[in-house]
Amino acid sequence: MTELTLADSAPASTKADALVLAAVKQDSGAALAPGTTLPKATTRHIDEALAAVGAEAGAEEVTKLSGVPGISAPLVLVVGTGPQSTEDGLARTEERLRRAAGAAARALSGRAKAAFALGDGSAEQTAAVAEGALLGGYAFQTFHGAGKQDSAKAPLGTAVVLGSLKPRSKEAKALTARLKAVTGAVSYARDLVNTPPNVLYPESFAESVTRRASGSKVSLEVWDTERLEAEGCGGILGVGQGSGRPPRLVVMSYRPRKATAHLGLVGKGITFDSGGLCIKPGASMVTMKCDMAGAAAVAAAILALAELEVPVAVTGYLCLAENMTGDLAQRPGDVVTMRGGKTVEIINTDAEGRLVMADGLALATEQSPDAIVDIATLTGACVIALGDRTLGIMGNDESLTDRVHQASSNAGDSSWPLPMPEEIRATMDSPVADIKHTGERSAGAMVAGTFLREFVGKDADGQQIPWAHLDIAGTAFNDKAPWGYTPKGATGSGVRALIALAESYA
Ligand code: BES
Ligand code: MN
Ligand code: ZN
Repeated sequence: MTELTLADSAPASTKADALVLAAVKQDSGAALAPGTTLPKATTRHIDEALAAVGAEAGAEEVTKLSGVPGISAPLVLVVGTGPQSTEDGLARTEERLRRAAGAAARALSGRAKAAFALGDGSAEQTAAVAEGALLGGYAFQTFHGAGKQDSAKAPLGTAVVLGSLKPRSKEAKALTARLKAVTGAVSYARDLVNTPPNVLYPESFAESVTRRASGSKVSLEVWDTERLEAEGCGGILGVGQGSGRPPRLVVMSYRPRKATAHLGLVGKGITFDSGGLCIKPGASMVTMKCDMAGAAAVAAAILALAELEVPVAVTGYLCLAENMTGDLAQRPGDVVTMRGGKTVEIINTDAEGRLVMADGLALATEQSPDAIVDIATLTGACVIALGDRTLGIMGNDESLTDRVHQASSNAGDSSWPLPMPEEIRATMDSPVADIKHTGERSAGAMVAGTFLREFVGKDADGQQIPWAHLDIAGTAFNDKAPWGYTPKGATGSGVRALIALAESYA
């Protein structure tokens, strides 16, 4: 991963392989962003060069210039930040900077060191640039053979982010620590999701998290099949029973002293979703190693919160299973008893996520946390509704869903709320069990949310626990071209949202 250095040196004299500057769109064409601190003659040279090559400064448009007079770096990379609107708040501006820095970092892969002089130099904008550069400088090369290692470009080595913070100041150190923890967490979640499903399965997923948690302030329990049976986790067991690779539940606990709140986080961890007996067509299965991205986000976020010693207690539940078609596989028509005793009639074995999540939500409820948040690549319907760059938020408490929406949007995880109207529940009535796990076909994301809601209960005082559900089916995996700081493949969707949400309780 790309290393980070904060500096307050002048862009023109900073020693690096490349200097990254921002351009904005003006009526006359592209021009260096106002506030870029360079000698006048240098600014004029770059503006003329931008005009000569026909640069337009569209969002993430990259123009490379060499031998710019007055600049130490041999290469100048000018990146467009896109049109700025007067309605843009701080969050939008920061996100634009993250994306521009990410696009620049991608264009600089293979280079040792690049200096970034984007934004106004404030702590907030410096952080945004650094975050974008680090996230854009991600590469997953674990499974490249020797031949490919030579030709494939390594990520940018070091991002030197220029701003007005004194690099040795307390503020700069705290900022660097947070950026490293957050981008390290996103990168860990991406690695887990990118790891092929023959290598990452419930047991090896649990081992990876156990290894990463050792020496941290997170304690952890791994429940195997026997324990899951003893605990009555019929949802996870039912989904996992069609695979030769048995399911697991990982319980992660982070208990800082002087915690100001307690959050329960539940993640969907289907290490591969074939659909089960209601098997998916081949083309829909290709990216289904990403079906554990919710569990990856929970694990990565909790480890980062512990690293940063955020004073909020968190309990995480990683619901891990492989949805396969073995001879013991769950059948449509089966009735399964979930944790807590509710019975579920199985209709479509491809709606497996909500079954493993139900056990996790029931377990989270038993701890009486202040709020429960779950995250899952749950429905194709959410992708149809919101596309592949916006995650869906549902829940039973408007102040919590508002809070999640705010935290995720500000953190760079774009999101939008979806309703769960009462009439949906009746479409899930079952003649043989307490509930069916699917209802009508329309509004599939909301049907899935409505099912999950049934498993979130009351706290020890009899009060309904506030709960929010994040559907990341669209955002977890990018099978199109990379953009901004989002690479092809796993994106790390939801990691920053969960960290920011927990921090909002501190
Ligand atoms: N894992 C899928 C959802 C998904 C789709 C994730 C696309 C990422 C990208 C989930 O388990 C699933 O198969 N859902 C079904 C539910 C249906 C059978 C009620 C779906 O969305 O089609
Ligand atoms: Mn499925
Ligand atoms: Zn699934």
